[in-house]
Amino acid sequence: MNPVKPSPLAASQEAAAVPRDTLTLTDNRTGKQYEIPITHNTIRALDLRQIKVNANEFGMMSYDPAFTNTAACISRITFIDGDAGILRYRGYPIEELAEKSSYLETAYLILYGELPTKAQLEEWIYHITHHTFIHESIKKFLDGFHYDAHPMGMMISTIAALSTFYPDAKDIFNAESRRKQTWRLIGKMPTLAAFAYRHSLGMPYAYPDNELSYAGNFLNMLFKTTELKYRPNATLERALDILFILHADHEQNCSANAMRCVGSSHVDPYSATAAATAALYGPLHGGANEEVLRMLLEIGSLAHVPEYIKCVKAGEKRLMGFGHRVYKNYDPRAKIIKRIAYQVFELMGRNPLLEIALECERIALEDEYFVKRKLYPNVDFYSGLIYQSMGFPVSMFPVLFAIPRTSGWIAQWEEMLLDPEQKIARPRQIYLGHDKRSYVPIDRRG
Ligand code: CMC
Repeated sequence: MNPVKPSPLAASQEAAAVPRDTLTLTDNRTGKQYEIPITHNTIRALDLRQIKVNANEFGMMSYDPAFTNTAACISRITFIDGDAGILRYRGYPIEELAEKSSYLETAYLILYGELPTKAQLEEWIYHITHHTFIHESIKKFLDGFHYDAHPMGMMISTIAALSTFYPDAKDIFNAESRRKQTWRLIGKMPTLAAFAYRHSLGMPYAYPDNELSYAGNFLNMLFKTTELKYRPNATLERALDILFILHADHEQNCSANAMRCVGSSHVDPYSATAAATAALYGPLHGGANEEVLRMLLEIGSLAHVPEYIKCVKAGEKRLMGFGHRVYKNYDPRAKIIKRIAYQVFELMGRNPLLEIALECERIALEDEYFVKRKLYPNVDFYSGLIYQSMGFPVSMFPVLFAIPRTSGWIAQWEEMLLDPEQKIARPRQIYLGHDKRSYVPIDRRG
C-alpha cells in the first residue's frame, strides 16, 4: 500500500502548528533573521556571534555582569528552585538529608552521585579519618601568624600551602590521585580550622582522635583541654553535623564559581580550594554569618530594631542574613537551622541576641520593602547564633562554612574537569576605554 503523501499546504500548516525548539531573532540594523536552537530553555551565547553588521566584525555577545542570567556549566550535583524554596543534593531533598543522613554520607553522595552502600560508607569514613593529620611543618606556618590573625586568612594560606606538600595533586586527570586529594582535603579542613582557632587562643594544638565522628573529632580538636579522652556532647555533635550537611553544596555560588574558574587553569585542587575559600570569606557570601552577629550586637536591644530597619530601608545598611541571589522565598536551610537553634539553646542557654533576630525577622517579613524585594532569612541568619552558643568566636563562623563546603567545591571542580565542553574560563568584555594614544613623557603631562 502506498503511503498517503500529505499535501504541501497541509505540511506547511502542520509545521506552523508544531512548535520548534528555536528562537528567531531579527537584527533591526540589517533586517536579517537568525534562527537559534533552544536546549534546556537556554540558547548558546556563541550562537549570537554570527549576528554581525559587517563580515569583519567580531559578532554579537551577551552582557551579563555577575552572571545573573548565564549558565556557565551543565551540572548534576545540586538543584535549587529559588521561588519554591527547594534545595536538593543529587535529587535528595535537603530536609531528608538533614534528618536522616550524616555529613560524611552526604559528602559521598555529593561527590559520587549516589548514596553509599554500608561497605562504601565504612571505607569512605576510614579514608577521611586516616587523612586528618597535617604535616608538622604546617604548625610552623600557623605559629607565624599574629595572635589576632583572622582564622579565614590562616585557612586560605594553609590550604594553599598543602599543595607544596602533595605535588602528586598536580596529576589532576588521574582519578586515583583526585580521590586521594579528596580524602586529604575533607580530612584536613577541620584540623586546619581547629589549629587556627587554638593558635588564636595561644593553646597547644589538640591532635585528631580517630575514634570520634567527623564533627565529634572537630569539637575534640577545638575544645579538648586536660582530659585524657574528649567526649563530645551528643546534641552539639549532631547539631554541628547537620549544619555541615546544610552547607555542603549550593550549586553555582561565588566560591563554587571561583573553584571552577581557578580549577579550569588545571591548577592543583589545594590551590583552587584556597581560592574558593577566599571567595567564601567575603561578607556577601560565607562572611555573612559573621556580619549577622556583628549587626545583632550593633542593634543591641529590641527597642533599637525599628530604627535599624529604617536605616536598611533608607539604603544606609543591609539587613545581613537576609536576601539571596537565588532564593526568593524562605531559604530551606534557614528553616532547619532555626529548629536546631532551639535544641542548642535548650542545652547551652538561650542566646540573648535571639530576641533581636526574631524581631528583625518579624518586621522584615511584614514590611513592604522586604516583601516587594522577596528578601527572606538565608542560611546565615540563625547559624551565627548557634555557633556563638556553642562557644565559637565570631571570626570562626566563616571557617565553619568552609569545612563542609569543601566536599561541594571538590565535586564542582571534578565535574568541571571531566566535562569535555569546559575549557579555561575566560569571559569577554565590552571595552569602553581610550582608543589608541601615544605615550606622554612625564615632564609633559599636565
Ligand atoms: N538588606 C537590605 N536590602 C537588601 C538586602 C539586604 N540584606 N539584600 C538585597 N537588598 C535589596 C537591594 O538593596 C536591592 O534593592 P533595590 O532593588 O532597591 O536596589 C534589592 O534588594 C536586590 O538586591 P541585590 O543586591 O541586587 O541582590 P543580589 O542578588 O545581587 O544580592 C545578596 C544577593 C545575598 C548579596 C544580598 O541579598 C545581600 O547582600 N544580603 C546580605 C548578605 C547575606 O546575607 N549574604 C549571605 C547569602 S546566603 C549565603 C551564601 O550562599 O553565601
